[in-house]
Amino acid sequence: MKPIAFYQDEFSQHLEEFNSFSEPKNLYQPISYILSLGGKRLRPVLTLMTTDIFGGNFKDALNAALCVEVFHNFSLIHDDIMDDAPLRRGQVTVHEKWDLNTGILSGDAMLILSYRLLESYENEQFKSLMTLFSETALQVCEGQQYDVDFETRNDVIVDQYIRMIAYKTAVLVAAAMKMGAIIAKTTPQNQNSIYEYGYNLGIAFQLQDDYLDAFGDTETFGKQIGGDIIENKKTYLYLKALELGSKNDKKVLLELFNSESNTSEEKINTVKEIFETSGAVIQTKAAIESYTKKAFSVLENLAISDEKKMGLRHFGEQLMQRKV
Ligand code: IPE
Ligand code: IPE
Ligand code: MG
Ligand code: MG
Ligand code: MG
Repeated sequence: MKPIAFYQDEFSQHLEEFNSFSEPKNLYQPISYILSLGGKRLRPVLTLMTTDIFGGNFKDALNAALCVEVFHNFSLIHDDIMDDAPLRRGQVTVHEKWDLNTGILSGDAMLILSYRLLESYENEQFKSLMTLFSETALQVCEGQQYDVDFETRNDVIVDQYIRMIAYKTAVLVAAAMKMGAIIAKTTPQNQNSIYEYGYNLGIAFQLQDDYLDAFGDTETFGKQIGGDIIENKKTYLYLKALELGSKNDKKVLLELFNSESNTSEEKINTVKEIFETSGAVIQTKAAIESYTKKAFSVLENLAISDEKKMGLRHFGEQLMQRKV
């Protein structure tokens, strides 16, 4: 297992080779644009790292890592349309820089390109990767639909929220790791355990994303702060504030999340205040820690060295501290 920066560099080089398209420009430029905006490259790094951890050659995992990252970037273009988001990675979103139709079609092309990247694998490995990837991609769509459905619902409960984020976010983090494990040809038990590790880490990751959406800094986080509040997203923060807040807090929250008439700035400030005073922020941070610890407990089932387990722990701890 090598330092994270090593996998990031190797991945960037591979991405650069991939990221050169020609005509038609209006299809391919948005693809190059989103892919070159950077981002943390969390998922591909996990794929490469996992192949290494289970004794494979990380170079064999480069196309699978790219497949996951291209898929992730496709989902971001469409997600930004669905969430009416103006900013992504500190830059204008694709549908705002170009237009809605461009965002839709370039996104579609990226989904196809992501599948294509698996064509370099053969036989059993190809089949396992395809099966996992297709199942995961469909779950992401299901999660995204729940996310949108919840915007106009007032009866969402925490369990449903967790299932929603498990689908829209955690399964891809989990699959990114399992793909690395498949390429390393490790045991099915190791494959399943690393999936479970990634799944729990992915839930913690999305909880943190929700937290940063309200309390992060646009400069570092690269997205519009308060976007989830504007869109009436039923986040963990929101659900916990409804549960823990005073009668008045609850009334104010329900009103603000059911009307269009409030100016955004006012709405964001009032809601954030309630998130803090109700104890929802503290509970969200506790949940992030709890899912991260749950991920760590899965490491016990893995047949790998203690040093590698430490590396995976370190990775999870770093994610918990993130501001980006
Ligand atoms: C954003 O993912 C979408 C979520 C699932 C929260 P990332 O936070 O990994 O975005 P980038 O790739 O680093 O920009
Ligand atoms: C997005 O969740 C998950 C997917 C893109 C599938 P969010 O809507 O919270 O992601 P961000 O915050 O826009 O990155
Ligand atoms: Mg979004
Ligand atoms: Mg979204
Ligand atoms: Mg978000």
